[in-house]
Amino acid sequence: METTLIILKPDAVQRGLMGKIITRFEDKGLAIVGMKMMTISQELAGTHYADHKGKPFYDGLVGFMTSSPVCVLAIRGVGAIAIARSMMGATFGSKADAGTIRGDFGVSNSFNLIHGSDSPEAAQKEIGLFFGEGDIQNLDRAIEGWVYDMSGGDPE
Ligand code: RTP
Ligand code: MG
Repeated sequence: METTLIILKPDAVQRGLMGKIITRFEDKGLAIVGMKMMTISQELAGTHYADHKGKPFYDGLVGFMTSSPVCVLAIRGVGAIAIARSMMGATFGSKADAGTIRGDFGVSNSFNLIHGSDSPEAAQKEIGLFFGEGDIQNLDRAIEGWVYDMSGGDPE
């Protein structure tokens, strides 16, 4: 099982899209194992997007991410990182395919609604940045055996 860090960005919260977006992950069968609202500090935004420092869009990105509250989620499932990225769609709302979160809910390129970790290393780092000890739940879902084929012992 993988756990990925999702941020519903300030535009998603302001536009009242949290429920619709979270529902997509729940409907898919992924488990929400952490969730909170917060206002991201300049320092945290800088650490989170450190790889983009120096790029032309960096200052605008940090300004946007710190401009209004976000909703941070930890989402778990087999292959959750890649599944969440494909559900999000391409970075720019204007290019994202219909059927994806960015494709269905936005037209803007920089206000693109959602962040998702892009690798296991990034997920581990980002979960540590946004969640503290005890914030991530061990969710023993009663429905697990119907979300996954468990007949071989491991979730398939
Ligand atoms: P994210 O990190 O937020 O999940 O998005 P991503 O992987 O799809 O895209 P990334 O390349 O990591 O870029 C991070 C965020 O920076 C903004 N951006 N603006 N104007 C531009 O050229 C540009 N490029 C990136 C977007 O908000 C993007 O999500
Ligand atoms: Mg990224």
